[in-house]
Amino acid sequence: MTKHRHVVALNTGGGDCPGLNAVIRAIVKRARIYHDWKIIGIEDSFDGLINDKMRVRELTRSSVAGALTRGGTLLGSTNRGNPFNVGGQDLSERVADRLRALGCEGLIALGGDGSMTICHELSQKTGLKVIGVPKTIDNDLKGTDITFGFNSAVEFATMAVDRLHTTAESHDRIMVVEVMGRDAGYIALHAGVAGGADAILIPEIPFDLHLVAGKILERQQMGRYFSIVVVAEGAHAAGGGQLHDNLSGAKKRLGGIGRYVAEQLHEITGIDARDTVLGHLQRGGVPTAFDRILASRLGNHAVDLVERGDWNRLVVMRNDTVDSIPLADAVGGTRSVALDHDLVATARGLGISFGDEV
Ligand code: F6P
Repeated sequence: MTKHRHVVALNTGGGDCPGLNAVIRAIVKRARIYHDWKIIGIEDSFDGLINDKMRVRELTRSSVAGALTRGGTLLGSTNRGNPFNVGGQDLSERVADRLRALGCEGLIALGGDGSMTICHELSQKTGLKVIGVPKTIDNDLKGTDITFGFNSAVEFATMAVDRLHTTAESHDRIMVVEVMGRDAGYIALHAGVAGGADAILIPEIPFDLHLVAGKILERQQMGRYFSIVVVAEGAHAAGGGQLHDNLSGAKKRLGGIGRYVAEQLHEITGIDARDTVLGHLQRGGVPTAFDRILASRLGNHAVDLVERGDWNRLVVMRNDTVDSIPLADAVGGTRSVALDHDLVATARGLGISFGDEV
């Protein structure tokens, strides 16, 4: 039997995003070309180890051929699987035992805050060794300046705002665009500034729609008869709560704020208003060049950490330098837009309304 230098498991957890396959490719290529590792891919986050029938497969260079530009994840993912609560049962020991039985020294997990919390708890409880690689279009993971997937989502949302601009102008309408981001306003802020929005509504700044309407009417007086509002799915009115749209079952999902904002702005201003929800389009498709490069750098560093035996760490990007921090420092909450960030000031400088008093 071949004795490999390292045998490492790899999985992708939480909502997918562009760049996951580029990380997998970077890890597999380097680990196979230079380090003689065996890499075992776990399907559908931890589900491939939880379910009675294991779903795992060895990843070779041919498994990642063409993966750089492919969206989604070739390993599959879920944002519901938690080995600590499988129908009320704690199957975390099963996960660790199965990885040991496969000969794995540890796990490289590509995920957001939910996956990193699970990984941290697994390492604490079972002794499993883990390296985390941060992903999410929301860009809300603590400890890193940026997550891959975010730039691709912003590019898509900006393109959508650009397209809505022309039709808004033709019809003298208010166009409201609802973007993802959970409790963080990064996508809305970036796409709003890049797309030249007139108002950006984010969870970090509870809004008053009368102030947004004031801005829209002021534009009218200047002969600008249309307006673009970018609203984050988690944004909410001052004194109000987030809106949820639970069409498909149990898990509470954010949604509906775009429609609410459009209706209210129409009501207040009398101007025709429409809403567009970008939804999962922001998570699909090919990663941008920025995300391909970021994903490759993070994947390469994950290999460094395993080679150094530096486990239980999260690969991070800080000041455009790849580094790592203890996994423990990345869990227990998410990151929000800092209100003193210069991009918020830049947006205000451009006359963009956040629906607040300043
Ligand atoms: O975390 C990524 C994300 O796309 C959020 O922006 C969004 O709120 C959520 O996942 C949607 O989850 P689902 O894929 O379960 O609808």
